[in-house]
Amino acid sequence: MKNICILLSGSGTNLQNIAECISNGEIENAEINLVIADRDCFGLERAQNLGLKSVLIKKGKNFTENLVNEIPENIDLIVLAGFLSILNKEFFTQISIPIINIHPSLLPKFGGKGMWGNHVHEAVITENATESGATVHYVTEEVDAGNIILQKSVQISEGETAETLAEKIHKIEYEIFPQAINLILKKLQNT
Ligand code: GRF
Repeated sequence: MKNICILLSGSGTNLQNIAECISNGEIENAEINLVIADRDCFGLERAQNLGLKSVLIKKGKNFTENLVNEIPENIDLIVLAGFLSILNKEFFTQISIPIINIHPSLLPKFGGKGMWGNHVHEAVITENATESGATVHYVTEEVDAGNIILQKSVQISEGETAETLAEKIHKIEYEIFPQAINLILKKLQNT
């Protein structure tokens, strides 16, 4: 059994989907041991409703230190599911297990600092791109620049808005995030 810690800042629909995929066996041999939020958010409430252990570590003084201290020793994989804080060098020197993130664009396009939530979708629409998508990637010190694990695209429709695009992309996130988690857990089992 592999142990997952999920970090989030928002509504937590990906958390909900991952928890459901663990329950229905789509994600194999895994357990969510802890959910950490960096602010008050609906994701925390979801975690509680799902019966998951959760903790709030507010951003501010000693944030990295508090975060590191909260991550249990037995965790095999950290999953960022809509986590808005940037993990810094100090964090990476202390945590050496794999960390993955999902980003709502086809990285390396529309990634990096400031590119989150609707900012991403608005930029895609402003640029008249014909497609966008979602990317699951490893997290490194450089924002949205770690190796890509899985990607899936969606077409931009006539009259697309940031909101309709976000909805479309969420749907594919619910497909590729569990797939990527399975891939990584299998890899970890073989090492
Ligand atoms: C997702 O769109 C993800 O790509 C981004 O944050 C959003 C989280 O959504 N990193 P939710 O809170 O899981 O609904």
